[in-house]
Amino acid sequence: MPRKIVVTSALPYANGPIHIGHLVEYLQTDMWVRFQKACGHQCYYFCADDTHGTPIMISARAAGIRPEDLIDRVHKEHAADFAQFHIEFDNYYSTHSPENQQLSELIFHRLNEAGSIARRDVEQTYCESCKMALPDRYVRGTCPRCGAEDQYGDSCEVCGATYQPKDLVEPRCATCGATPVLQTSEHYFFKLADYEQQLKTLIGGGHTQKSVANKLNEWFQAGLRDWDISRDGPYFGFKIPGEENKYFYVWLDAPIGYMASAKNYCESHGLDFEELWNSPDNELYHFIGKDIMYFHALFWPAMLMGAGFKTANKLFIHGFLTVNGEKMSKSRGTFIRASTFAGHLNPESLRYYYASKLTDTVEDIDLGVEDFINKTNADLVGKYANLASRSGPMLTKKLDGRLGRLDAEGRELLDKLVGAKEGIIQNYEGLNYAAAVRTISALADQANRYVEQKQPWTTIKTDAEQTRVTLTTVLNAVKVLAIYLKPILPVFTQKIEKFLQVAPLSFADVETALEDHEIGRFERLFERIDEEQVHTMIDESKEGQAAQPAATPAADSEEKAASPFKPEVTIEDFMKLDLRIAKVVTAEPVEGANKLLRLVLDVGGVERNVLAGIAKAYEPEKLVGRLVVFFANLKPRKMKFGLSEGMILATGPGGSDIFLLSPDTGAVPGQSVS
Ligand code: 2FM
Ligand code: ZN
Repeated sequence: MPRKIVVTSALPYANGPIHIGHLVEYLQTDMWVRFQKACGHQCYYFCADDTHGTPIMISARAAGIRPEDLIDRVHKEHAADFAQFHIEFDNYYSTHSPENQQLSELIFHRLNEAGSIARRDVEQTYCESCKMALPDRYVRGTCPRCGAEDQYGDSCEVCGATYQPKDLVEPRCATCGATPVLQTSEHYFFKLADYEQQLKTLIGGGHTQKSVANKLNEWFQAGLRDWDISRDGPYFGFKIPGEENKYFYVWLDAPIGYMASAKNYCESHGLDFEELWNSPDNELYHFIGKDIMYFHALFWPAMLMGAGFKTANKLFIHGFLTVNGEKMSKSRGTFIRASTFAGHLNPESLRYYYASKLTDTVEDIDLGVEDFINKTNADLVGKYANLASRSGPMLTKKLDGRLGRLDAEGRELLDKLVGAKEGIIQNYEGLNYAAAVRTISALADQANRYVEQKQPWTTIKTDAEQTRVTLTTVLNAVKVLAIYLKPILPVFTQKIEKFLQVAPLSFADVETALEDHEIGRFERLFERIDEEQVHTMIDESKEGQAAQPAATPAADSEEKAASPFKPEVTIEDFMKLDLRIAKVVTAEPVEGANKLLRLVLDVGGVERNVLAGIAKAYEPEKLVGRLVVFFANLKPRKMKFGLSEGMILATGPGGSDIFLLSPDTGAVPGQSVS
């Protein structure tokens, strides 16, 4: 009896590119969906871009475009990235959609009716210069516990303390640098604790992997607190009905985006959304990363319960990606974008590698670069492609491209391959892809050993018909392996289907042998990877990342800016900058600001005062008399420590690595720099 299954992956934020860390989840899910489809089940895979919230609003502002334009652009980029990795959604939609607005309002209304929404005043941090309430991560300042500077408003990366933005010493707005004020505003809250018993029953019934039960218990023991689900405008999101300047918090409408994507699909395919999403006969699964467990194991099911929708059958939680045993890093070039990877390497190599590492646990998975190269070359090229390439072309060229009949020995080998089917199915179903890959790779070894023993390249000279029998066995083994690998390697399998001239294969075809059958032309399957290719990709990732602005704070997301560059300017815009040679007359530290120096510059007889963030790189006394490039017509800016009348130009990553642009000797203060 075919099952009806609905599957989702977490919605990526619409303000940054898809990278290899994201791909762990989309590939894990895509393989599971392809597996279900290959078993003959009806399986729908829904996802969307997560488009709302402050970071997206600010990224759009920084790029000088409307948030709607930013999310449209990112949607296209994400869709292209997923397509390159053969991640096949039934619908890839957007949370900024009429379906999502309607469902968010419906769920909010039902929760309100159920008495699960409260309203009360909160104290929020507000930037008068940006005219907006600041999320915790948009406030920076000195840690109240250890004194580390430049920490986020919710926690200190140095000592690990957690606090509120108002606790920071010398807090400032991460966007404009102004000192924020405290403001009182009424917010809406979802009363999570109302659902404690139901949530405990759900989790106790095996909603998530056992290994995360401890974490969930800790949360239950700490007590379930009300969840703030509103944000004051300006905010990019959905307005709360009946409110003028209040919006649903992005995390309220994000998971509802799963439903919106399904609803949009149903409407365009003549299906009943209520039935598809909510029928107890249909199964529902969410794939997520362990960082967003609280939202998906507590808030989301509670919202569904309160609003009268069914909850998922299971939440599949995976760990993070490390590269060479370490966190992905922009400076090491291991923060690799999907598009960069696909520009250098075959995406199926990553699909296979991830599959070979994925289990049903929440353990992190590691991409070891050497291991990745070895596994691709040993398995994809050396085992699977090799098996097909040393039998297919020979049959085509020397034996009219016709398979014969199997003999007893051939059947014996195939029986072994066929006998592994149930175990492989169970491993896929239970998310133990690593075990499935181990089995499939061992079966490929057996098939390759058979070829070695049979030596068809020798027997073809003396016994063509016996060679046909051998090749018939080998190509049947290729067919079975291709079915087993289909969820992981869809393109490889498609090439095999074309070459064997068979309809799309499924697990039901494992037992049916191909005999007396004509095959088609053989197509190359995989290329070897060499180290050089991987190193070029890593180098390119270093360069690509260096171009991204460093100052955009992350809030609700680890993603930073949408585009590596600021909005375009014309040469006419650039010509408006008045760049002059200036000489440092005096330089002194600024009390209370350990990154700043106060400089007096001589710009051809005119003096200018400048506050420059170069204290970590230069001792003040060594600067006196030095020539620098000065941006003379920058609008003077009132800073906390005084007025800064321009800017000196420097380069470098920051901190102690800042290098002043110093003109050649012979330049004269006041002279234009062109
Ligand atoms: O953590 C994230 O990247 C979120 N954009 C995931 C949202 S998943 C769902 F709730 F929408
Ligand atoms: Zn501000």
